[in-house]
Amino acid sequence: MKRKLVVFASGSGSNAEKIIEFLSGHPTLEISCVLSNKPDAFVLERVRKWGVKSYYFPKKDFDLGVPIVDFLQKQEIDGIVLAGFLLKVSDPILKAFPGKIINIHPALLPKYGGKGMYGHFVHEAVKAAGEHESGITIHYINEHYDEGDVIFQAKCSLEPEDSPEEIARKVQKLEHTYFPRVVEEVFGR
Ligand code: GAR
Repeated sequence: MKRKLVVFASGSGSNAEKIIEFLSGHPTLEISCVLSNKPDAFVLERVRKWGVKSYYFPKKDFDLGVPIVDFLQKQEIDGIVLAGFLLKVSDPILKAFPGKIINIHPALLPKYGGKGMYGHFVHEAVKAAGEHESGITIHYINEHYDEGDVIFQAKCSLEPEDSPEEIARKVQKLEHTYFPRVVEEVFGR
């Protein structure tokens, strides 16, 4: 029997789609479904063309945790992948899936992490600081934003003239290249 993963996503879902594509036909892993806290998130529609079910749950269900844990246990989910999921993972979810939740962050943690640091805010901060490089961090989740153990990092170099949009483009390229492989590495053995 394949190990079942769920993706949590709040937005466009380009990473969710790359992971689904990469794992389609995989011998031991499958993306069982996608959950979002936004009823109109594009990810919900995007993944359906891959035959993956997607569900909206309100923020209060994620905050309480128990409704989400019940749902995931009924689906016999083995691990959780956060791909652009912007809520804090609540304690009941953390406790139900210890060491089984990973996240991608669009910068080189521990820099540019923490509450409010997501998406374009991260790239704007990197630009404002005049960094010569940025990148991605894939890490386990713990009770603090962006502080769990790091699993993988990849870097890209930045030019002084790079706009936040260009930085986002470079970082997204790394995400799409590496995140699916790291998901396989972490959960596939
Ligand atoms: C990704 O860049 C991801 O690293 C970031 O949101 C984007 C989602 O894009 N996550 C965070 O900023 C979390 N703090 P996507 O919806 O196209 O996959």
